[in-house]
Amino acid sequence: MDEKKKVIVSGIKPSGDLTLGNYLGAIKNWVKLQDEYDCYFFIADLHAITVRQVPAELRKRSLEVLAIYIAAGVDPEKNTMFIQSHVPAHCEASWLLTCNSYMGELGRMTQYKDKSKNKEGDSISAGLFNYPVLMAGDVLLYQADLVPVGVDQVQHLELARNIAERFNRAYSPTFTVPNAYIGKAGAKIMDLQNPTKKMSKSEENPNGYILILDPPEVIRRKVSRAVTDSIGEVRFSDDQPGVKNLMTILSTITGMTMEEIEAKYEGQGYAQFKKDVAEAIVEELEPIQEKVKGLLSDKKQLEEIYKAGAEKANYIATKTLRKMQKKIGLVQY
Ligand code: TYM
Repeated sequence: MDEKKKVIVSGIKPSGDLTLGNYLGAIKNWVKLQDEYDCYFFIADLHAITVRQVPAELRKRSLEVLAIYIAAGVDPEKNTMFIQSHVPAHCEASWLLTCNSYMGELGRMTQYKDKSKNKEGDSISAGLFNYPVLMAGDVLLYQADLVPVGVDQVQHLELARNIAERFNRAYSPTFTVPNAYIGKAGAKIMDLQNPTKKMSKSEENPNGYILILDPPEVIRRKVSRAVTDSIGEVRFSDDQPGVKNLMTILSTITGMTMEEIEAKYEGQGYAQFKKDVAEAIVEELEPIQEKVKGLLSDKKQLEEIYKAGAEKANYIATKTLRKMQKKIGLVQY
């Protein structure tokens, strides 16, 4: 008999248009992993609402994210693809785990600290504080072995491991303790205007990020304006964060090594290098954009995919939830 495949869980918040960072740090890796693992890829709509969303936009974007997953090559036949809010066990598990989590550990999450930095206590949503517990539930409900994410999510994954281990100790083994899976390249794509900061969909200056659905001419313009330096050499060095970031993007897309890139552009300055980076991105994203358009024009097909995904996800997640409830001492019915 076949050995049981290991389980992978990952998701993206539909809180803004997805960026090249989401694509290279997460989705592109999912495509590579889907044959080897039993994968659950979801739209983290409940995570998106830690910040107020325009309802119609949230609805539209949730479907767009699903279309992007599929267009990028995540196969709905092979993977379970669903919308988080269609699986109520996520919210229920989140409460049970919240009661097994500590204010101290949640308060230490750097993402929470960053996002609440300039705000008064009264205006910081409790959801923003609790969000990593919801994320722990997302992963633990499916007994995930691996969670493919970008570097910025590693701390949340560590927390999920701690919560799982604590629950297992308190109530007997219940959860697989998950590991983060960080891709070899592309784990942290930086802002094009401020290359010491992560590329993010919540950034204010749109020249800092490339969206998966940005038209080719916009991609070319943004790359041509990307901040570099006055050194004038294509070198993979911490002293040249802008160039380093563009090299990372080129390497993650084309598979070229940093040495190969350095050799190719030796003595040439940045103009041709930037043009080639832009073309590599356009070549990678244009076919995805075409497919997204097609998928969004057939909402019925998307609906079938997320409904089938929810059915399977509900079955698995509810099984784990029942175990949790029983162990905690809630009366079964
Ligand atoms: P989110 O929506 O902020 O980002 C989704 C994924 O994209 C990766 N990522 C990046 N990778 C490289 N460079 C970047 N500039 C970049 N920006 C984003 C993120 O690391 C992530 O993998 N809490 C999660 C969503 C989530 C989740 C989960 C993930 C909810 N539940 C369970 C895994 C498992 C989030 O906010 O990611």
